[in-house]
Amino acid sequence: MWQVKIPFKNEEEKEKIILSSYLNNSKGLQESDKDLIIFFENKEDSDGFKSSFTNKEIFVEKVSQKIDWLSKWKRFHKIIRIPPFLIVPSFKKIKKPLGFKKIIINPSFAFGTGSHPTTKMCIKFLIDEVKKGDTVLDLGCGSAILSICAEKLGALRVFAVDIDEIAIKEAKKNIIKNRCKNISLSTSLEKTDKFDIIVCNILLTTILELKWQIDGALKKGGKLILSGILKEQTDELMNAFSDYKLLKRRTLKDKNYHWISFLYEKI
Ligand SMILES: C[S@@+](CC[C@H](N)C(=O)[O-])C[C@H]1O[C@@H](n2cnc3c(N)ncnc32)[C@H](O)[C@@H]1O
Repeated sequence: MWQVKIPFKNEEEKEKIILSSYLNNSKGLQESDKDLIIFFENKEDSDGFKSSFTNKEIFVEKVSQKIDWLSKWKRFHKIIRIPPFLIVPSFKKIKKPLGFKKIIINPSFAFGTGSHPTTKMCIKFLIDEVKKGDTVLDLGCGSAILSICAEKLGALRVFAVDIDEIAIKEAKKNIIKNRCKNISLSTSLEKTDKFDIIVCNILLTTILELKWQIDGALKKGGKLILSGILKEQTDELMNAFSDYKLLKRRTLKDKNYHWISFLYEKI
């Protein structure tokens, strides 16, 4: 067994590293504040992983102890409660919980297990805002967790977009697992009708690049949920969206970062 220690600077970088580890057949991982420790069965896989991050200080070490990798991996993904939702990793078999809407998410290649603060805040905003019959655009859908929440809250039509093909593949599996019927997937935001709600949980720089598309896709009076913003980026985000009316902010901290999410209305 080979153990690879690799540092990360932010959540996006961490997700990229995790994705690359999957693609190179990793057997499990452990996370600390600034590093990931990833385990590979053989040296070829750890070398393949290492070659994708040539600009980083990576430590590779052969380890001998036998570890129950699967149970470690499973411990990493927990059931998440955001009433009325119970977000359950697909390997956990639980009966339909009384009073909750169960959402099954395959915790694998795509971002969006529900555990990240930026996702949690989007879900809370969706719970407040989605009304029966709404149309919703999930821009940067990852696992499609937000689209699935939107449909279960009564959205009539959800359009889920992600530029990452792997995310689209995973999203498709999750949509099927959750028996959703109103979600369509795409790798690009084609010209569509305007939406009642747009939810976008991506990094600030990408949100700023996407602003003109957001403007074009949201109805007047429609709601815009933005997440993935760090506290220190608040002014930049608010300046860029000064032509919208700010309705509410949410904040959540994790070990390393202070995240802010915004609810805007298009005026
Ligand atoms: C932070 S994840 C959010 C996933 C999920 N919506 C959630 O809230 O957990 C951001 C996603 O946006 C996608 N993405 C990045 N740039 C994009 C763009 N320009 N257009 C659409 N999707 C993009 C990434 O591939 C990634 O899956």
